[in-house]
Amino acid sequence: MNATINLEKNHFPVLLNELISIISPLYGGTFIDCTLGQGGYSKEILKTKLNKVIALDRDPDVLHIAKKIEIQNKNRFNFFNSKFSEIDKLNIKNNDLKAIIFDLGYSLNQILDFKKGLSFQSTGKLDMRLGLNHFSCDDVISNISEKSLNKIFKIFGEEKNSKLIAKKIIQNRNKKKLKTEDLVKIVADIKKYKFSRTNPSTKIFQALRIYINKEISELINGLIYSFKILPIGGMIVVVTFHSIEDKIVKFFFKNYSDKKNSSRYAPSIEKNNCLKLENNKPIIPSADEIKINPASRSAKLRYAIKTNENDNFDELHEKFNYLIETENLNYTS
Ligand SMILES: C[S@@+](CC[C@H](N)C(=O)[O-])C[C@H]1O[C@@H](n2cnc3c(N)ncnc32)[C@H](O)[C@@H]1O
Repeated sequence: MNATINLEKNHFPVLLNELISIISPLYGGTFIDCTLGQGGYSKEILKTKLNKVIALDRDPDVLHIAKKIEIQNKNRFNFFNSKFSEIDKLNIKNNDLKAIIFDLGYSLNQILDFKKGLSFQSTGKLDMRLGLNHFSCDDVISNISEKSLNKIFKIFGEEKNSKLIAKKIIQNRNKKKLKTEDLVKIVADIKKYKFSRTNPSTKIFQALRIYINKEISELINGLIYSFKILPIGGMIVVVTFHSIEDKIVKFFFKNYSDKKNSSRYAPSIEKNNCLKLENNKPIIPSADEIKINPASRSAKLRYAIKTNENDNFDELHEKFNYLIETENLNYTS
């Protein structure tokens, strides 16, 4: 199987109705879809003829999808093969900008493209690159120290068996070049899972994917630079799929929002309040959506409106510095 498989008909964009009902009062402007994927969000937004969409995706394999949307929506759709952490470099500051949308992670197309090595069923060379990367999973597994590998599994995978799995990987890589199927087997042998809904390698794959694609700094910089190009009154919407992503998004929205102090007696602290939160709790998929698309079950949608300019996001960097440090571990020493 490969990425050219046409899955568009079976594609279920996560929380699509909820997203549209949140952004529709803003209709009649430009929207940035930071994660085009199969174009589910962009196509729905473009159904309103007054709207324009600027879309980004780091994966060059979505170019054929972008081309198709562009042809069907002349002068209303523009695509950049770019990482959203570099959104500020695309020169798209625009007063007509209504919302910037992130649907994090990867798409079914990417999982089914076995050469990307994102699926537990992939075989062959370890890869896991989503696009525009500097190194692959093979580079990491072939060179990294046991200590760093353990840390990546522990911090990014929250994996209880991180130490043993890292040790076994290093022992095995000294005997032969490890492929995706070898990694899956090493983890399965250690975790000896029997009847679990999730594959035993889930957390290990998540950890490696975060490290290889630098997903933490992508998200933190994506949020900050989106904020910077957004006019006041514009909205940032983020759909996350795992707890580490959600922790970052939740902190960003809550820490910089104009929420009131929980106690009316507490001294009011001068903060860089620059966002307005409409909902404290995330929006999650309905039971019906999960039934049709089980992969949506861990999705959480959060959104906020920009109310002021702000140049200081130090607290966001400080809070998640332990993640950035793990992401910056050197795999060649
Ligand atoms: C879950 S899919 C998006 C699905 C899309 N909303 C749809 O309805 O088809 C996530 C997409 O984000 C892209 N992506 C992930 N990280 C990115 C980043 N840092 N910058 C740009 N695109 C990224 C992936 O390549 C993937 O195509």
